[in-house]
Amino acid sequence: MRRPVVAGNWKMHGTRGWIEQWLRDWLPQLDSRAELIVLPPAGYLGLVRAGLDGHAVVVGAQNVHAEPAGAYTGEISAEMVRDLGAQVVLVGHSERRGHFGETDEIVAAKVVAAHRAGLRPVLCVGESLDERRRGDAEQVVLRQVESVVRLAGWERLDRAMIAYEPVWAIGTGETALPADAQHMHATIRGWLGREAPELARRMPILYGGSVKASNAKALFAEPDVDGGLVGGASLDAREFALICNAV
Ligand code: PGA
Repeated sequence: MRRPVVAGNWKMHGTRGWIEQWLRDWLPQLDSRAELIVLPPAGYLGLVRAGLDGHAVVVGAQNVHAEPAGAYTGEISAEMVRDLGAQVVLVGHSERRGHFGETDEIVAAKVVAAHRAGLRPVLCVGESLDERRRGDAEQVVLRQVESVVRLAGWERLDRAMIAYEPVWAIGTGETALPADAQHMHATIRGWLGREAPELARRMPILYGGSVKASNAKALFAEPDVDGGLVGGASLDAREFALICNAV
């Protein structure tokens, strides 16, 4: 049995005061059997970790550099975010691929870095609207998963999660229909299962893309949807608690 996971990706949002208020609003409303993850901007990892002291909530980073240290002005390494309390890291988010030119090679190097630092990578994959319209969604997503597996190696994915996030659903208010999400998740799990059946059975595959309190239950009810990666709706503590509790 896979334990469901709900992760809140704040992206580049939050200030010290906002975070303290968010934690005061969110924590008392939780009644969830899911593994819960909060992904603040890296500079606030320590603050969030301290604010969650005594609560069964994991803190994660939204991105890291592949190298452990070095002359990479403005970057932060997997070892550094681990030192700040992170246990999880997103890799290959479509905003990283789109705005920062991250290729499958870079994404794979970050999976290797996460493994090296003892972080669980959440490998984000997803097709664009054009790719979906052309009927290429499965092929695109499987290519993204396969390149990372090939470049990083299966052993680096032993504790990984996958987040299926169709690019056309991220931040748009458009959500994949539960049946379409299920189809993509089953396609990914089926592909993993051909070479690594045991890993495929236990790997959480999260859905991301305009998850809200109003659609979370239906999405999470699908057999291969093991929870959600939530962006915009995670900024609202009440809404995010409802999503966490929808598991
Ligand atoms: P969204 O973002 O929930 O705002 O669509 C999801 C994500 O980017 O992880």
